[in-house]
Amino acid sequence: MADPAQLNVGVLISGSGSNLQALIDRMEDGSVPARIALVISNQPNAFGLERARRAGIPACVIHHRDFADRESFEQAMIIALEEAGVELVCLAGFMRVLTPCFIRAFHGRLLNIHPALLPAFPGLHVQQRAIEAGVRFSGATVHFVTEEVDAGPIVAQAVVPILENDTSETLAARILKQEHRIYPLAVALYAQKRLRIEGQRVRILNPTENPAACLIAPNPPAA
Ligand code: GRF
Repeated sequence: MADPAQLNVGVLISGSGSNLQALIDRMEDGSVPARIALVISNQPNAFGLERARRAGIPACVIHHRDFADRESFEQAMIIALEEAGVELVCLAGFMRVLTPCFIRAFHGRLLNIHPALLPAFPGLHVQQRAIEAGVRFSGATVHFVTEEVDAGPIVAQAVVPILENDTSETLAARILKQEHRIYPLAVALYAQKRLRIEGQRVRILNPTENPAACLIAPNPPAA
């Protein structure tokens, strides 16, 4: 039986769905007080659909190619999400840019995960671009979605070093591991009503902070 006190989450995917899996796992073990009411994939062969099926979560395909334009595609998703009683929508590897129509329908209730430390490296191919830019750190960002792509208020970030011999694949894999930690964390904070959007900033109520936290790359010699 669904617990009416739990937040109803909808997850939009296009592919592997490893972030979806991380959300499923942390909801199952009780660390995220929410439930996934619906998974939507715009790709019929997305492996994430299989993950939803295995977890007994309702899932459907809404294929963008079946619609005349982006608005009608998004309208179909809005209807499905509303019918499922979804309160928060999580984009998890969803590879379609959303129009203001969808974004306004879920204003303040729409999260995305991006494999870079925003506002650096918005857009695509971000691991390769971070390597080529020579930065020592990259990471992952969970943010609220606004009409400007990859520019909404930031909820959570994880930092990973870029290693000497990294390729975009090895860096992406290292970042993905951290994505699986911060997406559930962000959804838990949302579900606990601990996030307050103030302009571009997200305030966290009752934060646990470590003022001594610091990362240096390359590693300094041990003292
Ligand atoms: C992740 O790197 C996410 O940040 C990006 O797309 C990838 C999705 O991976 N938006 P998965 O489908 O969750 O495994």
